[in-house]
Amino acid sequence: MICAAMLAGGIGSRLKQKKPKQFVNIDNKPILVHSVEKFLKVKEFDKVIVSSPKECITKTKELMDKFFPQNDKIVIIEGGSTRNQTILNSIQYMKNQNCEEDSILVTHDASRIFVSEKMIEDSIKYAIEVGAASAVVPATDVIFESKKEGQLTDIPLRKYLVHAQTPQSFNIDNFLEIYADLSEDEINKLDEAMMLFYLRNADVKLFPGDQANFKITYPFDIILAESIFKN
Ligand code: CTP
Repeated sequence: MICAAMLAGGIGSRLKQKKPKQFVNIDNKPILVHSVEKFLKVKEFDKVIVSSPKECITKTKELMDKFFPQNDKIVIIEGGSTRNQTILNSIQYMKNQNCEEDSILVTHDASRIFVSEKMIEDSIKYAIEVGAASAVVPATDVIFESKKEGQLTDIPLRKYLVHAQTPQSFNIDNFLEIYADLSEDEINKLDEAMMLFYLRNADVKLFPGDQANFKITYPFDIILAESIFKN
C-alpha cells in the first residue's frame, strides 16, 4: 500500500488569518485543495489521507466533497496535537486497513502548494529503495546557531546545509520499529519524521526539492504565492 498523508492538522497561527491556514484561498482556491489536487495526479496512491483539527473535520469534508466529488481515494482523519502525532495517526489509519508489510507513507505539508509531481514520484521511489527520503534545497543564507537569545553560538558551514522540505516518505514498518525503540525524551524531541531515522542511524535519501516548494507560513508568503499565479 502506498498512501499520502496530507498534513493539515494545524491551524497556521503564524499566518494570522481569521480562518485556519488550510482554508485560506490562494488564486481563489483553498490551500488544502491545491495540495490535494497535486497528489491526486499521482497514480501510485491507494489513499490520500487528509488530516484535520477535530473542530474542522466537517468543514474539511465539505471542501473535499465540493472540489473532488465522489473521490474514493480521499479519506479524512483527525490530526494530532503535534505534527508528528498527525503522522502517527496517518500510519494508524494504514494499519487499520491491514496494509501489507513494507507499505509506504508519503507525508506532505498541506501548506506547500507548489509541490511537483516529480518530487512526489521521487520520494516514493527513494522510500522504496532506501527506506526514508526527504526533499531538500541548499541553504541560501548563512545559518547562525543561537542557543541563547541574541548570542552567536555556532556557524555551521553553509555548503553542508540544506533546508528540509516535504514530501518526506518512509517505510511505515521501519518507522514503527524505530519509534518503539525511542526513549520518552527522544519522542518529545521529535519535530519531524526524518529525525527519527537520523536518531537510529537509518539511511535517509535526500533528493532535490525546489525553492518554489516553500511552505506558506507568514503573511508575506500569501503575497508570494498569489504573485506566482499571476505570472
Ligand atoms: N500540522 C499537522 N498537525 C499538527 C500541526 C501541524 O498536521 N498538529 C501540519 C500543518 O497543518 C501544516 C504542516 O503540518 O500543513 C506544517 O506545519 P506548519 O506550517 O508549521 O503549520 P501550523 O502548525 O499549522 O502553523 P503554525 O506553526 O504557524 O501554527
